[in-house]
Amino acid sequence: MRIAIGSDHGGFDQKEPLAAYARSLGHEVIDMGPATGGRCDYPDYADKVARYVAAGKADRGILICGTGIGMAITADKVPGIRAAVIQTPQFAQLFREHNDGNVLCISGRFTELDVNKEIVRIFLTQEWEGGRHAVRVEKAMRENDPDFHGVGEDFQAEN
Ligand code: RB5
Repeated sequence: MRIAIGSDHGGFDQKEPLAAYARSLGHEVIDMGPATGGRCDYPDYADKVARYVAAGKADRGILICGTGIGMAITADKVPGIRAAVIQTPQFAQLFREHNDGNVLCISGRFTELDVNKEIVRIFLTQEWEGGRHAVRVEKAMRENDPDFHGVGEDFQAEN
């Protein structure tokens, strides 16, 4: 697959090792910056990577900041993106299986590199299950549709 990767200064130290790891798994990795570890603003790199994925120029995106949180907040606002902060391999598996996640957001400060490598490996190999999850992912993506005005106050959950 073609993978776009980006970070801020909080994730910079893990960016190159994770890019190299993804390449070692046979993926093409496009490093979207930054080129150095100086202070920078995570929304700029989240925007760059997320839009690249949303445009179909990469199959998946990986974003690393101090916590992963700012990256996920920003990337998720780009139409077509399903981004989340992932801290464990099990969540990585469920993020793919249930949510068809396409932008992985991880912490460079609170998650060890070896754990992030395993998270990246699962993110890049685990298939989406589809099936009962398809309608839920479709519903989540309605939020990107300017003609969707919400389920309304009268909505009653069936289960
Ligand atoms: C930068 O200090 C830090 O706020 C950033 O890396 C990230 O954790 C934001 O969510």
